[in-house]
Amino acid sequence: MIHLNENFTKLKASYLFSDIAKRVTAFTQANPDKPVIRLGIGDVTEPLPPVCVAAMHAATEEMAHRATFRGYGPEQGYAFLREAIAQNDYEARQCPIEADEIFVSDGAKCDCGNIQEIFSLDTRLAIPDPVYPVYIDTNVMAGRTGPSVDGRYQGVTYLDSTPANGYVPAIPSVATDLIYLCFPNNPTGAVATKAQLAEWVAYAKKNQAIILYDSAYEAYIRDPQIPHSIYEIPGARDVAIEFRSFSKTAGFTGTRCAYTVVPKSLQAFDTAGKGHSVHALWNRRHTTKFNGVAYPIQKAAAAIFTPEGKKQVKDMTDFYLGNAALIRAAVAKLGFSCVGGDNAPYIWVNTGRDSWEFFDMLLTKAQVVCTPGAGFGKCGEGHVRISAFNSRANVETALARIAAALK
Ligand code: MLT
Repeated sequence: MIHLNENFTKLKASYLFSDIAKRVTAFTQANPDKPVIRLGIGDVTEPLPPVCVAAMHAATEEMAHRATFRGYGPEQGYAFLREAIAQNDYEARQCPIEADEIFVSDGAKCDCGNIQEIFSLDTRLAIPDPVYPVYIDTNVMAGRTGPSVDGRYQGVTYLDSTPANGYVPAIPSVATDLIYLCFPNNPTGAVATKAQLAEWVAYAKKNQAIILYDSAYEAYIRDPQIPHSIYEIPGARDVAIEFRSFSKTAGFTGTRCAYTVVPKSLQAFDTAGKGHSVHALWNRRHTTKFNGVAYPIQKAAAAIFTPEGKKQVKDMTDFYLGNAALIRAAVAKLGFSCVGGDNAPYIWVNTGRDSWEFFDMLLTKAQVVCTPGAGFGKCGEGHVRISAFNSRANVETALARIAAALK
């Protein structure tokens, strides 16, 4: 008899964004005359930067000719892309990261979800609350947690992000082994200073722990004091893995390209206390389970590092930040406090009301989709997340409808 992995039965029946999509579909089917505006899932709406499109066309043309056709590429990514990333995202910020420490992939979601495979099942987890559900759910699937009791998986050290700490969690008082951090944060949009990240690096060093640093939204940072990478902190390359994505940076949610940085100096330990290279383990896993991102997509990704590409990416992220500024102003006018939206494409609104009820109210009265804070964890209750990813016209209409609904 085939037995299932019972860890899966500890999970909520469906993934947060699938749950929301079901509710929205039910509403639109029942109300076909009421067009819905989606400020829920963080999915981009603006077309790809023209430099990316041109590079993709040219690379596709290469695939059409015997002399320039390519089959399997290197699983870790083509050198042209890894080198461009190393130079522009790391060397330019004085971060000591080499091209062969970069693993190109089809998404930060997949990498954040898969990375836990290389660590032991008794790894002690530190996970923020609220949190991007992938970090916690993938550890539940693997069996690294107990059951969920009162909305929290047993055995996990939760890092509470609340109004009291400005949504930047404090260092835990207990030792943990694997720490998930995300800045600019999804879902709150909060950012961490260099001093705050330095404390995390010191904590990880002290506990021989590893930080998994998700900086998928770094292209939205405008405050020059805020670090874009954990490797801006001295010593971080000995304790941190970083995840980045072209999705929110350059509109690649449908095109799929991301990367993960695993420094060669990073170690994890066997039961005898002997250190092993995490880079070698991840390389082994990546080359076994992944066959690389398509050549035209990698060419398109590399194009963002050209001078025109940099300008086009800045224009695109500025555009979404313009939406975010409108959302922040409208939220303040309605009398709610919020964070995010200034260095991030998400605005985290403290409504003080049940978050699923608020979600339903916005959907039915304003036909606007947001994300209920409780979907991201217990500390998300009383909040909703509004995404800045949409056209200007849709954001303006949505804000007018929300104001009318809350009158
Ligand atoms: C979100 O809305 O939180 C993001 O779109 C999720 C993701 O990038 O997978």
